[in-house]
Amino acid sequence: MERKLLKMFKIAIRGLVPLFMLFVIFSASAQKEERIKENKKFNERCFACHKSSTYTYFNPEMDKKVRDKMCPDRVIYPDEYYQSNHYSFKCTDCHSEEYDSFPHPVYLRMEEKYACIDCHGYDEDYAQYQFEQIEEEFLGSIHSTKHSEDFNCWMCHDAHTYRIAARSVELIKEIIEYDNLICLSCHANIEKYNLIMEGTNANILTTHGWLPNQALHFKNVRCIECHTAVNNDILVAHLVQPKKDAVHNCVECHSANSHLMASLYKFRTIETRSNVGFMNGVILNESFVIGANRNVFLNKMSMGIFILSIMAILMHFILRLITKK
Ligand code: HEC
Ligand code: HEC
Ligand code: HEC
Ligand code: HEC
Ligand code: HEC
Ligand code: HEC
Ligand code: HEC
Repeated sequence: MERKLLKMFKIAIRGLVPLFMLFVIFSASAQKEERIKENKKFNERCFACHKSSTYTYFNPEMDKKVRDKMCPDRVIYPDEYYQSNHYSFKCTDCHSEEYDSFPHPVYLRMEEKYACIDCHGYDEDYAQYQFEQIEEEFLGSIHSTKHSEDFNCWMCHDAHTYRIAARSVELIKEIIEYDNLICLSCHANIEKYNLIMEGTNANILTTHGWLPNQALHFKNVRCIECHTAVNNDILVAHLVQPKKDAVHNCVECHSANSHLMASLYKFRTIETRSNVGFMNGVILNESFVIGANRNVFLNKMSMGIFILSIMAILMHFILRLITKK
């Protein structure tokens, strides 16, 4: 009797464990949902002023509501914010709680901002991104070595809009556009460029005039394809090199072992091994890169035809020798 009870108890426990696990997972995600909802509600207080070009506040001196202009650089679009990687955050997770009062205390301007690595460094959950290696590469890049402290990760990863693209967006063309806009936000925008350095920035269109059909190239490759050193350990190389080391050679991409396979198409190469006889089949799904997309069957077929013709000529020659006699 006792044994039977014990057995039943054991079975019950065994059944309950997975149920309990499910419950834990479910309640954790429910908790997160709840937190996101609360944060969203809180953020409305900030968006009340920060989401458009004008804002209103109550001025006690004048005893009335006043409407004023918001500087464009201080405007944050909720749509973009809630699509970013940090969509679940409340503004004051990164900014001081004291921003909740207006006018904002002046000393808050000096507040020190977190760095990516403060939150993501040596964290198992984000191991796939290799933050530590990315930081190391970035520190060796031309931007960082020339402008150390002034140039930080936020310069390229906008705090309120940055979202991953290379590993999540389906269309290669969209990834290219997204990534290139990051570079162009300075290299085609003097205001942001001048945050780092005085003077004018070189015109990208004239400095890349040597590329045939440049517009097409800029739609089909990223700036980083030519300007970073390939690193097989991370998905997006961050070591931007001096201009003298940039890829200049057409064959680096227009060849069977295309450089593009190790950079732009890296994620696809890992994900899909689709190969319908074409070399670099993954590229072919998106575009046709002269030289990089030779077809293996066609190659073999032309070789076959070549050998057959040689044999036919040989046979002909031998037959002629025999019949001459
Ligand atoms: C009543 C309007 C209003 C509200 C509400 C408001 N802000 Fe601001 N905020 C401004 C204005 C205007 C500026 C431009 C600089 C200034 O006037 O202080 C600004 C500037 C900032 C800056 C830029 C740094 C600085 O000090 O200049 C940050 C960061 C900021 N706000 C965060 C927040 C956060 C976070 C919230 C919500 C907790 C918030 N703001 C709510 C109007 C507002
Ligand atoms: C993941 C962290 C993070 C979150 C979340 C965040 N911010 Fe920021 N914010 C920053 C950083 C970092 C900067 C400084 C950007 C720089 O130096 O380029 C900044 C700058 C600003 C500025 C100054 C203008 C600018 O873009 O440089 C304003 C205004 C601002 N934040 C408002 C907000 C509001 C409002 C929210 C919530 C809707 C918010 N922030 C959420 C990190 C964050
Ligand atoms: C204040 C801490 C904090 C800072 C600073 C911060 N992050 Fe995050 N980041 C997080 C958290 C927490 C999440 C998870 C958000 C969620 O899913 O709810 C996240 C999400 C991400 C993701 C998406 C991860 C995924 O698998 O969905 C990426 C990529 C990312 N952060 C990159 C960056 C980069 C790059 C920087 C610096 C420019 C940065 N983060 C700064 C805390 C931070
Ligand atoms: C010169 C511009 C630039 C700077 C500076 C920069 N990044 Fe990036 N980073 C990019 C671009 C472009 C991407 C590609 C975005 C995409 O398509 O997902 C990227 C992607 C990433 C990713 C996602 C990689 C993946 O595997 O999906 C992480 C994480 C990241 N950067 C972290 C950092 C950190 C940390 C720093 C500072 C130490 C930094 N970045 C500085 C341009 C930059
Ligand atoms: C096909 C390869 C390739 C692509 C794609 C490419 N570049 Fe370049 N880039 C080069 C080469 C090579 C040079 C050096 C040119 C020279 O010295 O004459 C260069 C030079 C530069 C310079 C230095 C200009 C100067 O004269 O000071 C900048 C800045 C630059 N590129 C930014 C970009 C940006 C931003 C993009 C993306 C929109 C991009 N490049 C796309 C190969 C490329
Ligand atoms: C925040 C602004 C900013 C962003 C974003 C930015 N750059 Fe730059 N970049 C600069 C500045 C400023 C210089 C000039 C540095 C110097 O000569 O002191 C520079 C220089 C360069 C150079 C020329 C180096 C040389 O030898 O003269 C290249 C190449 C370059 N950037 C590529 C890129 C690429 C690729 C991206 C995107 C992944 C990018 N940059 C994003 C500001 C930026
Ligand atoms: C970073 C890789 C890369 C480099 C370097 C590169 N190309 Fe390309 N090239 C491409 C890609 C990707 C395409 C677009 C294929 C498509 O149409 O989808 C392309 C397209 C072309 C085209 C077809 C243009 C058209 O009008 O249809 C020509 C011609 C070409 N490249 C020549 C060159 C020459 C010449 C050089 C050297 C000066 C060069 N490429 C360097 C990647 C590269």
